[in-house]
Amino acid sequence: MKNNNTSSVGRFIEEYRSSETLRLHMPGHKGAFGYEDDITEIKGADSLYAANGIIRDAEAAVSKLFGSRRTFFGTEGSSQLIKGMCFLALNHYRLKGGTAEHPVILAARNAHKAFICASMLLGFRIRWMAPENDFSLCRCKITSEDLKKAITECDKADVAAVYVTSPDYLGNLLDIKDLAQTAHEEGLLFLCDNAHGSYLRFAEPSLHPLSLGADMTSDSAHKTLPVLTGGAFLHISENAPKGLEDDARNALLMFGSTSPSYLILRSLSEVPERVKKEDYVRTSKDLAKLRKELESLGYLFYGNEPLKLVFDLRHSALSGEEFGDAMRTHRIECEYSDPDFLVTMWTPFNNFPEDCEKLFKAAKALLPEYKKSSVQKPELSTHLPKVKHQPYEVLYRPHFTMKVTDPALPGHVAADALISCPPAVSPVVAGEIIDENAIKILKYYGFETVEVLR
Ligand SMILES: Cc1ncc(COP(=O)(O)O)c(C=O)c1O
Repeated sequence: MKNNNTSSVGRFIEEYRSSETLRLHMPGHKGAFGYEDDITEIKGADSLYAANGIIRDAEAAVSKLFGSRRTFFGTEGSSQLIKGMCFLALNHYRLKGGTAEHPVILAARNAHKAFICASMLLGFRIRWMAPENDFSLCRCKITSEDLKKAITECDKADVAAVYVTSPDYLGNLLDIKDLAQTAHEEGLLFLCDNAHGSYLRFAEPSLHPLSLGADMTSDSAHKTLPVLTGGAFLHISENAPKGLEDDARNALLMFGSTSPSYLILRSLSEVPERVKKEDYVRTSKDLAKLRKELESLGYLFYGNEPLKLVFDLRHSALSGEEFGDAMRTHRIECEYSDPDFLVTMWTPFNNFPEDCEKLFKAAKALLPEYKKSSVQKPELSTHLPKVKHQPYEVLYRPHFTMKVTDPALPGHVAADALISCPPAVSPVVAGEIIDENAIKILKYYGFETVEVLR
């Protein structure tokens, strides 16, 4: 039966299911176990990396919703799209006549592991930006001044793009408008890891990096929209250089499976039907109110992203991890914690006002613990380790494991970006010389071992 309230992909799947066709194709479950909708690229179902049917139509509807020139679906998260986005930037650099064998991408230091992997796989150099202010692993508050300085410090002919992460895991939004303008004045592409910020399109006014000047964004739609885990959008801006999209499907194919999940594709395609701007605006207001109520109890918060409430524990005797454990005793599971912060993520698909009341009640009960003042925490510097090799230069080099407490560790070269997921942001990047400051940071964030080059 035709369901007009669903997307092109949804309609196809429903029609196929109700046609009771004999399934002599993959996947092996044949629609049993409740998996009827999990189909594959059969006739009429289009093909993700050569889309010209129902997937292409669904992408066009999402593109319209986000105001992009083109939007491409991905089923393997921003981890896939970030690599594809970097490939497109390098491709553009070469088409423009760039000749560096290993072009540079200027990047804010709090980049996700996928970006380091992109350097390894695509062979670009990374020039990090880490302005001097107090350190936090997930944050890197660069300004256009920092960007201008970084550009003057490198050979511009080698630079392919600028890459930032906004929002970060702690709910900080960068001034994308200013940063993108600076990049563009210098003739550089501006890329944004917007894994946490798909929903910013539905803020009033839109705070989506695409609306603020980014040329390309990778959105983990699954993090903040009603999309299945893995579902992601690669957006290319109306104002981006023409032709940037021409190789997008190939770029994503290189880093993705040739068997994309139709369950994920369907959920991506249904975003235009399922998402209502007014719901996101109302949820932002509800959370602003909850934040005020918690502040009046004595809690401190961090970041300015509308749908994250990030408890600031830098002055509390409790660490973020301990506060997260305490929340679990009230049957509340939060998104992420580290020594200083506890991150909660919300969308209109929470229950309002019940969920706010539940958090408020738990926070009220935990207040005496939260208020006990902290023992002195170590000062961490944003000073970056010296780079001995670029990540792509160490990819195949033999390595071994060392304890972070080993007195012989300083001076060794990191072999890998450490992954601890979340947040998959590493204190030392492959190819960097591990120094005392890096060791202090590794210990602070609870890393016990590190891979180093032989
Ligand atoms: C800032 C950031 N970028 C990229 C990613 C990767 O996204 P995905 O899990 O969709 O692959 C994450 C995942 O948590 C992230 O936090």
